[in-house]
Amino acid sequence: MNEKFEDASTLQSLWMPDQVSTIASEVDSLFYFILYWVYFFLGIVIIGIIYFGWKYKSNKRGVTKPLDHNNLLEFTWTLFPLLLTMVVFFWGAKSYLKMNIVPYDAMEVNVSAQKWFFTFTYKEGFTISNELVVPVDKAVKLVMESQDVLHGFYVPDFRVKMDIIPNRYMITWFEATEIGEYDIFCTEYCGTSHSQMLAKVKVLSKEDYEDWLKKANVVDESIPLVDLGEIIYKKNACNTCHSIDGSKMIGPSFKGIWNTTVEHTDGSTALVDENYVYESILEPQKKIISGYQGVMPSYKGILRERELQGVVEFIKSLK
Ligand code: CUA
Repeated sequence: MNEKFEDASTLQSLWMPDQVSTIASEVDSLFYFILYWVYFFLGIVIIGIIYFGWKYKSNKRGVTKPLDHNNLLEFTWTLFPLLLTMVVFFWGAKSYLKMNIVPYDAMEVNVSAQKWFFTFTYKEGFTISNELVVPVDKAVKLVMESQDVLHGFYVPDFRVKMDIIPNRYMITWFEATEIGEYDIFCTEYCGTSHSQMLAKVKVLSKEDYEDWLKKANVVDESIPLVDLGEIIYKKNACNTCHSIDGSKMIGPSFKGIWNTTVEHTDGSTALVDENYVYESILEPQKKIISGYQGVMPSYKGILRERELQGVVEFIKSLK
């Protein structure tokens, strides 16, 4: 990203993120247009206060001469702001349409938000967590839904931000203009681990993207199960709720839980074995361990068989 500090647009990035999408510069230009006019009017008001304060200071009490009206002044302060707000309106409306009308040739990715991670489902038939991989210079349409509460999808470098409201699809799109890795933030307060709900957009060249697509659908058999489990534990945000050092978080710690008998909120008990872990991942609401709340989303369709086996082995390894 260092070479970017050389071009002119980075003058702005002192307090604005880089511009990495087709609409970013448009959003910024309008923002600066409004900002500089605000400075201008602020200047007039401040200078006016000081000047009139000085001009009309007097120790004498009394009434000043009555003022009638001044046509020229009144026309100016009506027409000029009207003109400015109309510019802002049409410019804003034009940009708004551009941001909301998805180009016909956009590729589609389904986004699911849940406490507290994002999953991205590709048409090719696989789902990945917390990492959206896209080709550069290609419009990407996101069809987003929430499994639980209100979340937000925000990529500062793209100037793309859309709330994800439960019980409906929310649509947004972007076209990344530079290869790189960019942050995705959840921007609606969605509970305890809201601030941990972080993901990345990886923008690849067209060729790298095709390569990635071929591999993405295949589970890497060369990784030992226990290591795969650890990768899944981090990648799928298990770590936002389950510790591996015995500390109590939103969910029970994985450390030492294997092969123990746990008690549930309904009074029943069960042994933590393979079947128990599988069920807890795929149908987390079925059995809630005493002292915890049933807030975990299901990983059905998100984790594949080998990945589930990996999680089991990983939990086994945490004695
Ligand atoms: Cu999801 Cu905040």
